[in-house]
Amino acid sequence: MAQRLCAIADVPDNGSLGFGDGGTDSVFAVRKQGDIRVYRNRCPHAGAPLNWMPHRFLDRSREHIICSAHGALFDIGSGACVGGPCQGQSLTAIAFEIRGEDVWLL
Ligand code: FES
Repeated sequence: MAQRLCAIADVPDNGSLGFGDGGTDSVFAVRKQGDIRVYRNRCPHAGAPLNWMPHRFLDRSREHIICSAHGALFDIGSGACVGGPCQGQSLTAIAFEIRGEDVWLL
């Protein structure tokens, strides 16, 4: 059953927003140039939560998602690891759709 995650406007452009307590069902949303993506908050390298501060999932340049544990970098649009210890692996994308001004998990 679809579940409302947040309003689009809640996710800062060129920023990110986390949900949950960092457990295995936690997810985060990222927004780049208006495009939203939602991923599970788990690094494919060692299974750690990606962030060490609430809602901080991007690197300093805001060009990539970064894992705070060992520095893996992920493409924002695809979730593919583009640097660090888990190249060839990807974040787990979470299916969602935009309904009006809101993001809904499917
Ligand atoms: S757990 Fe993410 S890079 Fe190692």
